[in-house]
Amino acid sequence: MIVDKLFLYQFRNLKNQDIKFSNRLNLIYGNNGEGKTNLLEAIYLLSITKSFRQSNREDFISFQEREASVFADIKDNVSLKNIGISFFRDQGKKLFINHNEEKSLSNFIKNLICICFTPNDLLMIRGASELRRKFLDKHISDYEPIYLNYLLQYKKALKNKTILLHQGASKEQILPWNRILADCGFFIQQKRIEFLQKLEEYAKEIYSQIAPNDDSLNLVLKNNFQNEVSKDALLIKYNNYLSQEIMFKKSLVGIHRDDLLVFLGDKDSKKYASQGQARSIVLSLKLGVLKLLESKLNESLVVLLDDMDSELDDSRREMLITSIFEKTEQVFISGVNKNILDFLKNNEIIKVFNLTCGKVCELC
Ligand SMILES: Nc1ncnc2c1ncn2[C@@H]1O[C@H](COP(=O)(O)OP(=O)(O)OP(=O)(O)O)[C@@H](O)[C@H]1O
Ligand SMILES: [Mg+2]
Repeated sequence: MIVDKLFLYQFRNLKNQDIKFSNRLNLIYGNNGEGKTNLLEAIYLLSITKSFRQSNREDFISFQEREASVFADIKDNVSLKNIGISFFRDQGKKLFINHNEEKSLSNFIKNLICICFTPNDLLMIRGASELRRKFLDKHISDYEPIYLNYLLQYKKALKNKTILLHQGASKEQILPWNRILADCGFFIQQKRIEFLQKLEEYAKEIYSQIAPNDDSLNLVLKNNFQNEVSKDALLIKYNNYLSQEIMFKKSLVGIHRDDLLVFLGDKDSKKYASQGQARSIVLSLKLGVLKLLESKLNESLVVLLDDMDSELDDSRREMLITSIFEKTEQVFISGVNKNILDFLKNNEIIKVFNLTCGKVCELC
């Protein structure tokens, strides 16, 4: 799939613009604070409706304005579609496919799948478990969009249960929510395990290429409950904790506390991986997802590489860009430096855009 054209309306500092992209490589360069990450964020939003940053709906709308929109023409192997999102300061957001409102999130997210690499990715190894769950949940939803429906249902039930616990509700009032948590939770847990098994195969191989002298990469889903074999077995686990949860007035266990553990040999990377190893692990996981999704969907994905000149030295950056470029079709790269793609010989496939004062201008 390819983002052919992007239409922005009052999106952060980018205001109103139509941009036609290259279907291979797009370089977006500009000084700090000009809006490069905003542009990549706009594309990413069309894939999952959430940002890769800690942002909420209101942040996307230009200061002083009441609404913002991002629309794009997306080409895939079989069709050309227009998809879009509008954000309203007071009324939430609306999704569109071919200018008709789309209510189903799982239908919407099928149309564009992006994998994003940002300098913050290292937090995925070192940071809170929530970041690793987000990584898993996003890409399992890409792999199997129905997963997102179960996840949303689970989150809604958990929210209701939490409110009831807080209000000091009785066991009888909470049990129906545990039933939903167990039903959806069982599905989510199974899908997480299946996905990790598949991802591990790809990520292991990629890691061994990047770091041939290191121990091998292993992925494990850590959960409070052992991998239960049925919804009923999972329900029993949820219900076993209910008295304690009522006492503490909060939810104590469940698949919303799962974590993705990444081991190098038998060492937990969260504690022991060096900075360089952590970076290589993130690359292996993301490149692994890229390969896994492309083989499942038979369709190339869109890759976003933000801030490409901030952390990597020249040779690592070239290696990363070349390997991604070989694996996929359309890539967006942002950076301060206009020359980061000079090592590529074929200029015809590259479009270069300069961003100044929130205006995107294509260089001829
Ligand atoms: N809702 C908004 N309305 C208007 N401007 C906004 C809004 N949200 C963020 N901005 C502006 O966008 C700019 C930041 O954009 P962005 O993070 O994309 O910059 P960048 O080019 O990626 O910078 P860097 O090179 O430092 O990463 C800031 O100047 C910020 O004030
Ligand atoms: Mg940036």
